[in-house]
Amino acid sequence: MRVTKEQKAWVDITIGKIEEKMFCVAERNLHKIPYTAKDGMFNDYSESKICWWTNGFWPGIMWQMYQLTKEELYRKAAREAEEKLDRNFLVYQKLDHDNGFKWLLSAVADYRLTKDPDSRNRGLLAAQLLAGRYNPEGRFLRAWNEWGGQRHTGWAIIDCMMNLPLLYWAWEETEDPRYLHIADGHGKTALKYFVRGDGSVRHMVELDPVTGDFVREYGGQGYGEGSSWTRGQAWGLYGFVLSYLHTGNQEYLHASRRIANYFLANIPRDGIIPVDFRQPEECEWEDDSAAACAACGLLELSKHVEEADCRLYRNTAIWLLQTLDRERCGWSKKTDYLLERCSVDYHGSDHNIPIIYGDYFFIEGLLKLADKELFMW
Ligand code: GLY
Repeated sequence: MRVTKEQKAWVDITIGKIEEKMFCVAERNLHKIPYTAKDGMFNDYSESKICWWTNGFWPGIMWQMYQLTKEELYRKAAREAEEKLDRNFLVYQKLDHDNGFKWLLSAVADYRLTKDPDSRNRGLLAAQLLAGRYNPEGRFLRAWNEWGGQRHTGWAIIDCMMNLPLLYWAWEETEDPRYLHIADGHGKTALKYFVRGDGSVRHMVELDPVTGDFVREYGGQGYGEGSSWTRGQAWGLYGFVLSYLHTGNQEYLHASRRIANYFLANIPRDGIIPVDFRQPEECEWEDDSAAACAACGLLELSKHVEEADCRLYRNTAIWLLQTLDRERCGWSKKTDYLLERCSVDYHGSDHNIPIIYGDYFFIEGLLKLADKELFMW
């Protein structure tokens, strides 16, 4: 990617720091699937929480590092996590729209790099299960199965835009256009019901599961209805440009640009991203993962727009990543995490903590800038 001399120097130094730290982290955590860290050390979701939606990000980091360094250690860690994830295929209740996050970054990444037939099999199985969530009349992918005593039959969420690339991959891999029709059908519904006039996006939308008509929105993981949860804005920004990449539909590119422009207009002066752009001013909860994911989306978007906008999006992404590097990265090799202050949501209790997807997108962003990423989406 075209960057200035100073920016390139910073990218090279930061990737060097990532390489040094991640090797120690991978050695210490070879058999785990981490989610967060306590007292600096990663926890492990590979046993009791194997179905959790974030379990692809660790193998995703390991594949990115393997692509960068060709160190066998990373391949081993990634493959072990991928094999452990097989248990999820047998748990109906915990199979949901997040098959993309789980299997694009594990099995599909493996297949892209090694052409392993078992990994291809896992990727296609995951895609088939995701396709099975499609409501053909309402034209949306149902987010989850029943939980909390409610059926949630008509619920869809913006995060799903990041899962559609699993369907695009299956379409490209099998040449079966059903995968494209389903991804594109959901994408068009998301354009209609998630993107607001000001370029912000809703988090959760309930549709009538029989007719597909709009019922209502929910604040979801954000501050409230009508607010803008920052990780959701990043999912939309990045997700729509990915749908453009796979379909060539300009409407997706336009949506991604509108969300990006809204995001840019709301970044606080210090470059630190809150949990929700509409949260109370005195609230100190942040979300480094939203900053890192938005940066990746902006970098992808910058490749598809004219020069002036390209510079704007690329430089903003670099500013976000440099702010994280300077203010929010734990570079000590004695700790496992990179980003210090991610938040699960606004109303819950997990704020300003390390979370694995924050680290994943930080690494992806740096590798994008250096043209060294393994493209996962
Ligand atoms: N996909 C759920 C989240 O972003 O927390």
